[in-house]
Amino acid sequence: MKNFKTIILSNQEISPNYYRMKILAPGYNKQAKPGQFVMFRVQRSLPPLLRRPFGIFRAGFLPADCDSMPPKEFIEIIYKVVGSGTEIMQGLHHGDPVELLGPLGEGFAVGSPEEEKILVGGGIGLVPLYMLAEKMVETSNVRLLMGGRTRDDIITVTEFERLGVETYVSTEDGSLGEEGLVTQVLERKLDKYPHSTVFACGPMPMIEAVQKICAERGTSLQVSLEALMACGVGACLGCVVKGEGHAEEEPRYLCTCTSGPVFKAEELDWRKAEIKNVKSGGCK
Ligand SMILES: Cc1cc2nc3c(=O)[nH]c(=O)nc-3n(C[C@H](O)[C@H](O)[C@H](O)COP(=O)(O)OP(=O)(O)OC[C@H]3O[C@@H](n4cnc5c(N)ncnc54)[C@H](O)[C@@H]3O)c2cc1C
Ligand code: FES
Repeated sequence: MKNFKTIILSNQEISPNYYRMKILAPGYNKQAKPGQFVMFRVQRSLPPLLRRPFGIFRAGFLPADCDSMPPKEFIEIIYKVVGSGTEIMQGLHHGDPVELLGPLGEGFAVGSPEEEKILVGGGIGLVPLYMLAEKMVETSNVRLLMGGRTRDDIITVTEFERLGVETYVSTEDGSLGEEGLVTQVLERKLDKYPHSTVFACGPMPMIEAVQKICAERGTSLQVSLEALMACGVGACLGCVVKGEGHAEEEPRYLCTCTSGPVFKAEELDWRKAEIKNVKSGGCK
């Protein structure tokens, strides 16, 4: 994990309010693991002072400038514009200086090759699932269930398809794919492939519904949570969630930034009132 100043390579709108940013990131291709994140800070402006956390969508190499030069490494993040920080980000261009701290956190455990894998992404929650899919398709059958409110929330699905992932799209308003919630699709897929392992990231209501479905069936589940984060490195305790076994007399808190953002479902306390630090907007 390190903090460094770097530059933006590109920053494009890919769907209304969703942007994809490519950033020069030496060392990330080797270091970044599926499910990890970076703390991102715009260098040029004073506000916002705080860094903002973003999942790493993809890491890769740019074509080398010439034969004798090593290829440069980049990462891509995909973000939804929701407030002051992301509003500033949408106005950034090629060459603009930014600061990255990362890669941070505990990512997904890929699991054994024999298991069927089901990835569940709600809106921007799709982001940390791409690197995971890249890793898994080498050895396993991977299915992606992608849900959103409307078609605008369905992003990068064709890129998963190019990896060889079977994809299923659902939208609440029926504007793309099946009409309804992604959790309905999950129930059907688990009926058909009962021995699958599930990996989910999305808004908290979706995560809770996925947890309930998996718990009822005894299905193994990993979730990526999005708590509000100020430091990203375990120093401010602003991102704690209640862990399994938490009690008033014997509190058991977990930092989402260092113990997560990915947790095995059984590590967390799922009583509704208990995971309240995580924004109900989740991975919006
Ligand atoms: C580990 C992790 C990975 C993330 N990955 C992504 C990603 O890949 N793409 C993406 O678009 N966003 C991601 N987020 C959420 C992202 O960090 C917030 O959307 C961003 O910080 C908002 O900054 P802002 O200044 O624009 O909004 P603010 O002005 O800070 O807030 C605007 C609104 O968004 C809410 N908000 C702020 N932070 C979060 C948060 N962490 N979760 C939910 N709601 C929040 C605020 O309460 C407010 O309602 C991730 C968060 C975490 C913790
Ligand atoms: S964000 Fe500061 S401890 Fe997790």
